[in-house]
Amino acid sequence: MPLHERESVREHIEDCVFAGRDLTRQVPKYRFPRDESAPKEAFQVVADELMLDGNSRQNLATFCQTWAEPEVLALMALSVDKNMIDKDEYPQTAEIEARCVHMLADLWHAPDSANTVGDYAMDPESMLARVDENTIMVVPTLGVTYTGAYEPVEAMSSALDQLQANTGLDIGIHVDGASGAFLAPFCAPDLMFDFRLPRVKSISTSGHKFGLAPLGVGWVVWRDREELPEDLVFHVNYLGGDMPVFQINFSRPAGQIIAQYYNFLRLGFEGYKGIHEASYAIGQYLAAEIAKVGPFELLCDSNPATGIPTVTWRIRDGADPGYTLFDLADRLRTRGWQVPAYTLTGTASDIAVQRILVRLGVSHDMASLLLDDFRGAVAHFAKHPVTVPMSKEETSGFNHL
Ligand SMILES: Cc1ncc(COP(=O)(O)O)c(C=O)c1O
Repeated sequence: MPLHERESVREHIEDCVFAGRDLTRQVPKYRFPRDESAPKEAFQVVADELMLDGNSRQNLATFCQTWAEPEVLALMALSVDKNMIDKDEYPQTAEIEARCVHMLADLWHAPDSANTVGDYAMDPESMLARVDENTIMVVPTLGVTYTGAYEPVEAMSSALDQLQANTGLDIGIHVDGASGAFLAPFCAPDLMFDFRLPRVKSISTSGHKFGLAPLGVGWVVWRDREELPEDLVFHVNYLGGDMPVFQINFSRPAGQIIAQYYNFLRLGFEGYKGIHEASYAIGQYLAAEIAKVGPFELLCDSNPATGIPTVTWRIRDGADPGYTLFDLADRLRTRGWQVPAYTLTGTASDIAVQRILVRLGVSHDMASLLLDDFRGAVAHFAKHPVTVPMSKEETSGFNHL
């Protein structure tokens, strides 16, 4: 019943939400709704639809943060109306953003002048085979998405030094540190991936992954102003003052940045280190146990010196356990666990792997529950052999095409 047709306020107040209009009829799914809805009914409808999503805490596929302190949620609520691009209107938010950039520059050993207020990855040889006079930048990844392994930034930098000595070609490095740039500084401080290497010109990272901020805040820091060509910068004056911007989208919520800053203050270096070390330890526990369950070869074993807190495995070459990793992923999904199986890319595109990302919110107890279900799944296949194994095309619950 539309609100204006209700007979009394009392009726409206006392209705159980499930006796209300939206919960007792089909709500339009693809056509624009004609009438208004009561807030609590609209909320209930949407909230109930979200029940069909996976449980984000059991989603061991995503790199992104799925648990937040209540203080972070409170700051997000305080900031929900702030557009972080309106810097003149929200100068303190702009100041907080700038502080985050400087803190990251410091963490990644930027020069003072810039901070004043494996077989399945790229290696130096394969990189050198691909660079020439048209190469703008080499982009090693600190935490390859497919496996979690770090590409060797320092060795690639040395190889490029040698190339310059031999040919004169001076090729810079951008580090894709989506995950690793928020891990290595705390858990592998001697790993040279950052501005300590002169050839590293810029580093990017995702604050909402191991930066522990809510979705979505991305950061990029250049080693100094000269490395960012001025003609890529757009100067905006219509919000008041001169605001240089360099990004693809303009309007963006500010809460993530404010929550990022909160995390920097709340946790500090030692706090991040403790949280990430705990994730690495749980990843190592998972890796050791998973290796015992089947003929699995670990491609990433949650070692802070060589990758992110990830366990990635494949079925050992030549082994046939009677099921595929796609079958295993599907079986784990029946218990709510999202542990995806997928194929690698390029020359390794015929290799299927499975991956678990361990991050804040994945406890030792959760890992042991997952392991129980993992062993149960393998035992199930031993008792009920798979006659037609699942293919990679059949495993996703959603058709992305
Ligand atoms: C190595 C790497 N770079 C970049 C990205 C993109 O980051 P975002 O999703 O935060 O934009 C990802 C995403 O998983 C990634 O793994």
